[in-house]
Amino acid sequence: MTDAELRNMISRTLTCRIDERENCSEKMEQFLQRCFYQSGQYDSQENFLELDKTLKEHESGRVSNRLFYLSIPPNIFIDAVRCASLSASSSNGWTRVIVEKPFGRDSESSAALTRALKQYLEEDQIFRIDHYLGKELVENLSVLRFSNLIFEPLWSRQYIRNVQFIFSEDFGTEGRGGYFDHYGIIRDIMQNHLLQILALFAMETPVSLDAEDIRNEKVKVLRSMRPLRVDDVVIGQYKTHTKGGVTYPGYTDDKTVPKDSLTPTFAAASLFIDNARWDGVPFLMKAGKALHNRRAEIRVQFRHVPGNLYNRNFGTDLDRATNELVIRVQPDEAIYLKINNKVPGLGMRLDRSNLNLLYKARYSKEIPDAYERLLLDAIEGERRLFIRSDELEAAWSLFTPVLKELEEEKIIPEYYPYGSRGPVGAHYLAARCNVKWGDLGVDE
Ligand code: BG6
Repeated sequence: MTDAELRNMISRTLTCRIDERENCSEKMEQFLQRCFYQSGQYDSQENFLELDKTLKEHESGRVSNRLFYLSIPPNIFIDAVRCASLSASSSNGWTRVIVEKPFGRDSESSAALTRALKQYLEEDQIFRIDHYLGKELVENLSVLRFSNLIFEPLWSRQYIRNVQFIFSEDFGTEGRGGYFDHYGIIRDIMQNHLLQILALFAMETPVSLDAEDIRNEKVKVLRSMRPLRVDDVVIGQYKTHTKGGVTYPGYTDDKTVPKDSLTPTFAAASLFIDNARWDGVPFLMKAGKALHNRRAEIRVQFRHVPGNLYNRNFGTDLDRATNELVIRVQPDEAIYLKINNKVPGLGMRLDRSNLNLLYKARYSKEIPDAYERLLLDAIEGERRLFIRSDELEAAWSLFTPVLKELEEEKIIPEYYPYGSRGPVGAHYLAARCNVKWGDLGVDE
């Protein structure tokens, strides 16, 4: 590629968030003029020396920082890091590396990757990205908890009956089967995105908002988690389905997936945090591809009101009267609280209504993409939203034994039709913990 071709490629997706009056197009052009293309092999120190030379020409002696973004297959991470660190580190500023998941496949391979990276980099040069931490509503979790008196006092086993972390996509692996089949949904979504949200949700109040203080608290949660057993997990895989004359492919119809693959594209798990705050509270997770909708949300179901004076209004189904706080991460970002309310009129009829904070109704500003925030943080050296190595280790030790057992025992996933609500097993799993999934109710 030439520089012009690269610039042309970037300009097709480049957007400007500065308003028109501030010379957007001029600024975009200035940015593009600073993009250069350099070709080379990931494992060639010589090629990285050439890169270093080119960079130096552009830097022309000024203090220069270098950020390497490894958007490359994991098997070449180490080669690229070795070459970048030995031959193309900044000589007078900082050098940082952003690593994308997968950070290994299990405890062992992840530890090996960390060891290998640390041969060439210090921990504070490594930025492990989990882009869910950069999502607006995930960032807002701590604000919600720690700057509103009405939430934090309720944030414990005393008032919370269960917490649900739900991720669903309405499309399949579509062309990413080669990567996906080697990992599966538990490694792709649960071990990182959902577990990170859980840790933020459940942590104790950190000493400060500094990265180390927050990550110290998150790691404590992860290390307090009860070991996960195979019985606590349900797995599924989507199969072909025809609806309205359209046939949707099954997972194994993907050409990049082996025909006999048992890799889960759906999983649900019940987890527990064995500490004083959360003892006995089920934390349920559910993640799946090719389901009926696309969404990511956190649902907090509160306990029943003791001796509720209005019990008769709810009949025998007291669950209908449960308060529920929903934090919808995407799409249509929102925070809403389900409360019981009197239907206006002379009679005494109650219903469930929402106190609703719908972002697009409240804020006119566009919500930044998770990667925008994270790239900016990496440049500014803000580590709060990146995963520290001990967090990663704790996350893998929770899931590795289950993943090993599922794979060694060749446990067959429950098949569910493309576009459905997923395997029924997820309901039985929740029912065993006395929980109903909030996203499948009548008034979700
Ligand atoms: C990635 C997973 O980390 O997150 C993908 O590897 C998934 O399988 C994606 O589709 C979802 O991200 P988002 O931001 O589109 O919800």
